[in-house]
Amino acid sequence: MQENLISKTLKGNKSDIPIWFLRQAGRHIPEYFEIRKKETNFIKFCLNEELIIKSTNLPLKYYDLDAAIIFSDILMIPWAMNRNVKFTKNFGPSLNPMIPNETNIIQNISIFSKLKPLKNAISYLRNTLPKDIGLIGFAGAPWTLACYMIEGSGSKDFINTRKALWSSNKWFMQLIETLIVYVADKLEMQARAGADILMLFDSWSHMIPNNFFNDCAIRPTAKIIDILRSRKIFIPVIGFPFKAGASIVRYSFESKVDCIALDWSVDLRWAIMNINKDIAIQGNLDPASLIPSHSDYLSQNVLSCLDIMKEKRFIFNVGHGLTPDCKINNVKEVINIVRNYTR
Ligand code: CP3
Repeated sequence: MQENLISKTLKGNKSDIPIWFLRQAGRHIPEYFEIRKKETNFIKFCLNEELIIKSTNLPLKYYDLDAAIIFSDILMIPWAMNRNVKFTKNFGPSLNPMIPNETNIIQNISIFSKLKPLKNAISYLRNTLPKDIGLIGFAGAPWTLACYMIEGSGSKDFINTRKALWSSNKWFMQLIETLIVYVADKLEMQARAGADILMLFDSWSHMIPNNFFNDCAIRPTAKIIDILRSRKIFIPVIGFPFKAGASIVRYSFESKVDCIALDWSVDLRWAIMNINKDIAIQGNLDPASLIPSHSDYLSQNVLSCLDIMKEKRFIFNVGHGLTPDCKINNVKEVINIVRNYTR
């Protein structure tokens, strides 16, 4: 029985390189649909302890991974806030859009009681998973949650969210402050239930106007981590400022994360020169490289990532979630290369 490799890397170890995949538990594994069939309403699926456990364990049946990520969704916080979250096939999520300046932002929601099945599933998983498999809890970052809550769905440019940021700034920042507390609550609950590592997904951080990047991404992340530490939760936090360009440098120094997850557009050589050297790096293979049935570039690219990161605290991962058409054999090939690599 030993500590999982990801936690060791996050605490300073540089021997073996750990590996796991963003969105490893979803639709690229045909067996997922068997589990998914048992509950067609996706929110109810995410509130069903037995189905959460089965989905979290599923990728471990197929792959030699260093972590399981708890099966849930970032939109479970807006759901708990009564935003009428629904998932429709071929459309994605929809919510009751928030009207800027509407007064009902602050609600005394108990994330702990609303998301109890998640807590129970984590306790069960931590008790049953081998100790060398890390369990990752997560939440959406406040900006990304605000994007979905104001827009009411996904969007290519989140124009209504950005408009609200400029026109109703005080209200917008109140929404961010409220979300900071709920996100901290959800992360605290997962840590207390047994999660070993926490991750914050800021999937739409590339929509933040540059002058607001500190207010909307860096400061909220630092505040969430301050709240966790003040509540005596000391496990490592991975931050994922997706496609945020050069702003990730400041994020790496000021957001208080223990590790920064890089998207596939980031040049790793540039990253190791510019990013805070005191934190670990996770990333950043293009998930699209796992779609073709055969690609000569795949192994070459994985090896080149490993060579660049040879001297660093590095967690191998993809630079965004696996897609439904990702091939299981490609994932296996990548794991093999990483396992056989010696630094
Ligand atoms: O490995 C895992 O998949 C773990 C569980 C997980 C899900 N969502 C399950 C899910 C995680 C970590 C997420 C995070 C998530 N959810 C993010 C951040 C990561 C990213 O992709 O940027 C975001 C933005 C969401 C919001 C969301 N949830 C969207 C836009 C959609 C629909 C489109 C899509 O990507 O599937 C979902 C639904 C969702 N969440 C599914 C799964 C497995 C598909 C639902 C189904 O089975 O029909």
